[in-house]
Amino acid sequence: MNEFNNVIDSARAAFERASAPAELENAKALFLGKSGRITELMKGLATLGAQEKKSLGAAINRAKQAIEMALDERRQALANAQMQMQLQSEALDVTLPGRRRGQGGLHPVALTLERIEAIFGSMGFDVAQGPEIETDWFNFTALNTPEDHPARSMHDTFYVEGGPQNAPNLLRTHTSPMQIRYAVQHVRQHRATTGTAQGEGLFAGSMPEIRVIAPGRTYRVDSDATHSPMFHQCEGLWVGENVSFKDLKFVFTDFCRTFFESDDLELRFRPSFFPFTEPSAEIDIRFQDGPLAGRWLEVAGSGQVHPNVIRNMGLEPERFIGFAFGMGPDRLTMLRYGVNDLRLFFDGDIRFLSQFS
Ligand code: PHE
Repeated sequence: MNEFNNVIDSARAAFERASAPAELENAKALFLGKSGRITELMKGLATLGAQEKKSLGAAINRAKQAIEMALDERRQALANAQMQMQLQSEALDVTLPGRRRGQGGLHPVALTLERIEAIFGSMGFDVAQGPEIETDWFNFTALNTPEDHPARSMHDTFYVEGGPQNAPNLLRTHTSPMQIRYAVQHVRQHRATTGTAQGEGLFAGSMPEIRVIAPGRTYRVDSDATHSPMFHQCEGLWVGENVSFKDLKFVFTDFCRTFFESDDLELRFRPSFFPFTEPSAEIDIRFQDGPLAGRWLEVAGSGQVHPNVIRNMGLEPERFIGFAFGMGPDRLTMLRYGVNDLRLFFDGDIRFLSQFS
């Protein structure tokens, strides 16, 4: 009897050790297989007498049944464990946030342009767009920069087909041509609506003021961390009968403080030269705090519109006066967000760009 109990115990232990169905089947063979322990015991019965055969046989059968039961139990347990594992690995966590469709956003420079337009819009400025391929006249000559003027060399640029042989069309080097284009249009329209004869010399009557900004792409042969062959500018122009340099200072100071959300931002108007303004000034700003605090940073060129330019607008310079400025939205974007390499704006790297939307 004792021997049978040992066999049952060791079968249970063997089944318990099996951690996968295949191992369990191997363990089963050791006891119930052709030459397993139970089968061997059965074979031993052959040599016994009828009485012994009967009682021993019954005992062996009970042991066999006990082992089969243990086997079934273990099979069931392994199947349950397998099922548990599968359920766990296929589990769906309904509390996880869903995956969203990729969302686009505006380019950081576009955000700046929108901001510039909104701020100047609130000061009554119109927004105008002009061509990127420009004629020599609008880009230079009309802006008091004749063909042999040395200031042209500061605007080394890309020339394209079209236009006269000695003055081909070009990719505009600044947005200043829009001063002329917009003003000429403004004067023509005013003359049309008031019935004043067109083209009869310079206009010297009364007229609503010209107040416009003209943002857009501009081009020069330049390329490093702070210069790109394609960059943005935003022109500003205010012309009327009584618009002075102090208006320029007020308007631009107000703009910068609003743009950078800093009431104590300082501005400096540093004397400079542009053919189309007289006097002229570079505009520098200085932050009181933040990583750029204490350094003067150039953000725009500006000045009082030159009488020759007023003339090319079709206006009488004895009557009309104004100011203009040209600023760099790329630069403003770099300063606002603390970006140190201009080229990042134009590389199209989504890892950089997605930080702004
Ligand atoms: N067009 C000038 C430039 O590109 C900037 C400027 C605009 C200066 C208007 C004065 C007035 O450098």
